[in-house]
Amino acid sequence: MAYEWNENLASGHEMIDGQHKQLIDALNKLVEACAQGEGRAQLGNTLEFLNAYIVKHFGDEEKIMDEYNYPDYLIHRGYHEGFKTAVRELTNNLLKFGPTDTLVGEVHSSVAGWLVNHIRSEDFKLVAYIKAHSKE
Ligand SMILES: [Fe+2]
Repeated sequence: MAYEWNENLASGHEMIDGQHKQLIDALNKLVEACAQGEGRAQLGNTLEFLNAYIVKHFGDEEKIMDEYNYPDYLIHRGYHEGFKTAVRELTNNLLKFGPTDTLVGEVHSSVAGWLVNHIRSEDFKLVAYIKAHSKE
C-alpha cells in the first residue's frame, strides 16, 4: 500500500513538512518497486537514502527544538535516536542476509508506521509549541 501525503500529516511547518514528504516519497518508491517485482533491488537504495536523510531531518528538527528551548527536547530526541538505531539494524540485516522479501516488508511497514505515528504525535506537538512561542 502506498502512503499518501495528505493534510493528516501536515504539521503546518513548511520545512518539517517538506522533509517528511521526502521521507514518504522514498517509502512510496519502495512500494512502487515492489509492485513491479523490483522491491528487493530497490531496498538498498531506500535504506541508503533513509540513513542519510533521517540524520539531516532529525538534526534540523533538533536544532529548532534547541532554539525554542523545547521542554520535551530530550524525549523527542530519544525517539529519533531509537529510530536511527532501528534503521541501522535493518541495514545490517540487509548486509547480512541480502534483500529478502521479509526485509522489504519490514522496512516498509515498520519505517512507515513509525514515521506516520511520530509525525502525528511528537512532530505535531513540537510545531504547536513553536507556533505558540513564535519569536516573530
Ligand atoms: Fe521528530
